Amino acid sequence: MLPPTVLVIFGITGDLSRRYLLPALTAIKQAGQLPEDFKVIGVSRRQVQPSDILDEHTRVLAGHLGLVKVNAKDPADYQMLGKEIEALGSSFKTKPQIILYLTIPPQAVASVVKLLGAAGLNGPNVKLLLEKPFGTDLNSASELVAEASKYYQEDQVYRIDHYLAKEVAQNITVFLGTNTLFRNVWSGEFIEKIEIIAAEKIGIEDRGELWESTGTLRDFVQSHLLQLAALTLMEPCRDVFDIEQVSKHRLKALKLIEPVQEPDKVFAAQYQSYQSHAARPHSKSETFISLTLNSNDERWKGVPIHLITGKKLNEKLTEIRIYFKKSQDLQSNLLVLRIQPKEGIELDLCVKKPGYERKLQQLSLSFSYGQHFGKLPDAYEQVLVDAMTGTQGLFASSQEVLTSWKILQPVLDYWKTNKHIATYKDNASVEEILVSKVS
Ligand SMILES: NC(=O)c1ccc[n+]([C@@H]2O[C@H](COP(=O)([O-])OP(=O)(O)OC[C@H]3O[C@@H](n4cnc5c(N)ncnc54)[C@H](OP(=O)(O)O)[C@@H]3O)[C@@H](O)[C@H]2O)c1
Repeated sequence: MLPPTVLVIFGITGDLSRRYLLPALTAIKQAGQLPEDFKVIGVSRRQVQPSDILDEHTRVLAGHLGLVKVNAKDPADYQMLGKEIEALGSSFKTKPQIILYLTIPPQAVASVVKLLGAAGLNGPNVKLLLEKPFGTDLNSASELVAEASKYYQEDQVYRIDHYLAKEVAQNITVFLGTNTLFRNVWSGEFIEKIEIIAAEKIGIEDRGELWESTGTLRDFVQSHLLQLAALTLMEPCRDVFDIEQVSKHRLKALKLIEPVQEPDKVFAAQYQSYQSHAARPHSKSETFISLTLNSNDERWKGVPIHLITGKKLNEKLTEIRIYFKKSQDLQSNLLVLRIQPKEGIELDLCVKKPGYERKLQQLSLSFSYGQHFGKLPDAYEQVLVDAMTGTQGLFASSQEVLTSWKILQPVLDYWKTNKHIATYKDNASVEEILVSKVS
């Protein structure tokens, strides 16, 4: 059973809260897993009502929800919030843990953390949950880590990268640790290249302002794609369910990835309708990135790791593609770990086509989560449950965050004076964009 908890959500009126957090809490409640003593305090800078926050699906949370108006810049309001939390907690049978979940724009995070800490909301029963992006470059991330560490111990801070909590991402370490066939060939001796692709159909929607201060490299590569790279490259753990070891192994793998050596070769592009949609006529914010990394790990020397991600593309998918070395052209060589949609694993096979002629055909051997397990829990359910139980392995440590910024900082430095942005058609495919890049 999960421990008694007061979950304080800063930014409860926002997109993430509405689309992910409240539905995830609803699913945990419907699974009968919410603690008996459980309250959500939704924090907004405005006066809001439960009917502004809950919809027909999340209405089951009404009995758990209280709303508090807080002026995010006023220290007195944090004192008042502290008293509200204390009063609520004193009605519980046992003293609850307090989870402070900041789902607010990145530029507001450092000041809110400081005011929370200064108001004494940092006792040993307090956990601080932060959403990505963690800073906007190495400097700002270091400052954020330093600011948080003035008030919170490292083990009180949970940096969410919900890709780590996706079922297939969690399975990578299990797949590699428990299937000897793949474990034994998981190195540059047998693998030619690795591609990690995350494509989205949606554009920036109404997040124009956020995108102007982030862009795809900061928003997606620093967090999700580098974490998927780390999971792919890391040494499998002896005990595949020792989640805390997984995070240490991820960090080791990240530390061995070289900072981008040729920032001028990083391809950045923007979809055609971006500037009019975001109302930024001369914007250089990228919505598509393709870059190649190398690892200094002996196992991965010489294996290019291509990271590709973009918005407003013709399909939504996230995949890790492993290309094995071929000794003959005709051989099949592709293993796909599909994170979403249609979560699963696919292995290309080359078979003899039945018939009198001797011809080959490429088919695939596939495992689908949906077919075997039905609907999968959303990653945010795992995030919330792990935060409540204090399981930190699926969260990014400060060292992981800083190491991933170090990998990308040469690109950010280069872009300060030399940012070239190509344009691609709305709804183009990744292949079309990459072909246009070389033509
Ligand atoms: N949306 C996603 O799909 C997604 C996915 C992964 C990570 N994230 C991250 O999660 C965080 C929140 O994202 P979001 O899309 O939910 O953002 P959002 O909708 O733009 O903002 C969330 C809420 O933050 C509050 N807020 C705005 N400015 C603030 C300020 N200066 N100080 C304090 N509160 C402020 C607003 O609530 P009030 O006006 O009611 O105070 C707003 O509704 C961001 O760091 C984002 O990068 C988002």
